[in-house]
Amino acid sequence: MKIIVVGTGYVGLVHAAVCSEYGHEVYAYDNDQTKIDAFSSGQADQIERYVNEPGLVNIIRETIGRYLFFSSDLKTIIEGTDAIFLCLPTPPNLDGSTNLTFYDAATEHLGELVAQREDQRRVTFINKSTVPIGTVRHLEAVMDSHQVPNFGVASNPEFLAEGTAVSQARRPDRVVVGCDHAEDFKILRRVYSQFVNHVRIKYIETTPETAESIKYVANTMLLTYISFWNGVGAKIGEKIENVKIDDLRLGVTADDRISTWGSFVSNGAGGSCFGKDIASLINQLRRTNVSTKMLEASYEVNEYQKVYLVDRAITEAGFKFNNKTVAVLGLAFKKHTNDMRDASSIKVIESLLGKGVARINAYDPLANEAAQTVFAPSTNNLFEKIEYFDTAKDAIKGSDALFVSSDCEEFRGLSRTIEEMVTPPYLVIDGRRMIPDFEDLVARGYAYLSVGSTALIPKVSEE
Ligand code: UDX
Repeated sequence: MKIIVVGTGYVGLVHAAVCSEYGHEVYAYDNDQTKIDAFSSGQADQIERYVNEPGLVNIIRETIGRYLFFSSDLKTIIEGTDAIFLCLPTPPNLDGSTNLTFYDAATEHLGELVAQREDQRRVTFINKSTVPIGTVRHLEAVMDSHQVPNFGVASNPEFLAEGTAVSQARRPDRVVVGCDHAEDFKILRRVYSQFVNHVRIKYIETTPETAESIKYVANTMLLTYISFWNGVGAKIGEKIENVKIDDLRLGVTADDRISTWGSFVSNGAGGSCFGKDIASLINQLRRTNVSTKMLEASYEVNEYQKVYLVDRAITEAGFKFNNKTVAVLGLAFKKHTNDMRDASSIKVIESLLGKGVARINAYDPLANEAAQTVFAPSTNNLFEKIEYFDTAKDAIKGSDALFVSSDCEEFRGLSRTIEEMVTPPYLVIDGRRMIPDFEDLVARGYAYLSVGSTALIPKVSEE
């Protein structure tokens, strides 16, 4: 198959690379020439500046020039194409609705070019990045308006999680394909021939609108599950004496029907998908007069979760943040990534500075650079109060309290670092329950406050 992937973000680049691995002739297109140059170089540092996924560079190096090609000129690659995947950014508007500006510009451009093709073979336009339910009809109308001959539209949502994108693209749980016509199902079956009739992978063929809905229901369900644990499980652990949240989790998830994934209580789930998708689905359903209470509750629990530990530090641990230095460890939205999109650390830092904290000592093994683009001089003046450190140890040195905001594995060894670098009175706020030996810390006079547990304050506390 000749495939064009429009948009070389995280979804598009991984999809293009993995399709090329299966012997398709894949053209990854982006209108950003700098990105195309970086990917065409085949150099790890250049590629990983944009998309850093384990295994991705190896695939690109192996297939580039043979099966995988990069281009910023759609016109030169359009002839003979069977499938065009749309992997464009769909950021949220302020009201939660999906901003389709990039998508609309790309589809109009495509419509013009595909209408002028010399060959008349069937081409299928496939929405891969998440777009509101029904966008497939809009896509169809755009192609009709350009009088594109012999085309079909499809929805084929992407379910990849960051950090495991390549392995998941090679062995997904399911492939969901929504089309109107047998010819388009046939084209998609050829694209995904390795997954059709696979013993473990579910290959699901349905209507385009159902495929679009599957993505929204899956993501909002996952966030709702996390919010359930944060809004119910964690609260029981925090409010009722002698309830151990970790045992509660084990006991509940021992039921095969209940997932372990998502049961790890936290200071909120971040990332590029969950918040954006739930806000968009709320917006879409409101337009149809369907009650959105359940989705709103999931969203609100998650947002509240990002900052409530700062308030608990004041009310339960009696900590006074004014003029203090706080180390914030874990800036990206989860471990193994430098992605700062919707990261809880952003709300944590804003909240701490709002409470009068004088300095933030920030540390993340991968995201220090990315965080500086979030807390940038062009945004507001918060950046002046944030200093970045190369190690957790250096960030903790000289601080009055620390906040663990992501699940980087190295944080499991923090108790030793804390004891080495700072003396009590000192407050440890653990947003991810990353410090297993917290009881030893408390025994040595450190105050410990975590999601899912009552605050542990040593007898001699802060003035
Ligand atoms: C998610 C979905 O998993 C994926 O299917 C979809 O395509 C895109 O969105 P991703 O954004 O990479 O993937 O992150 P994920 O690993 O799902 O984690 C999301 C957030 O939830 C992270 O902040 C994570 O730390 C948090 N989380 C996860 C918890 O707080 N508790 C858990 O038990 C699991």
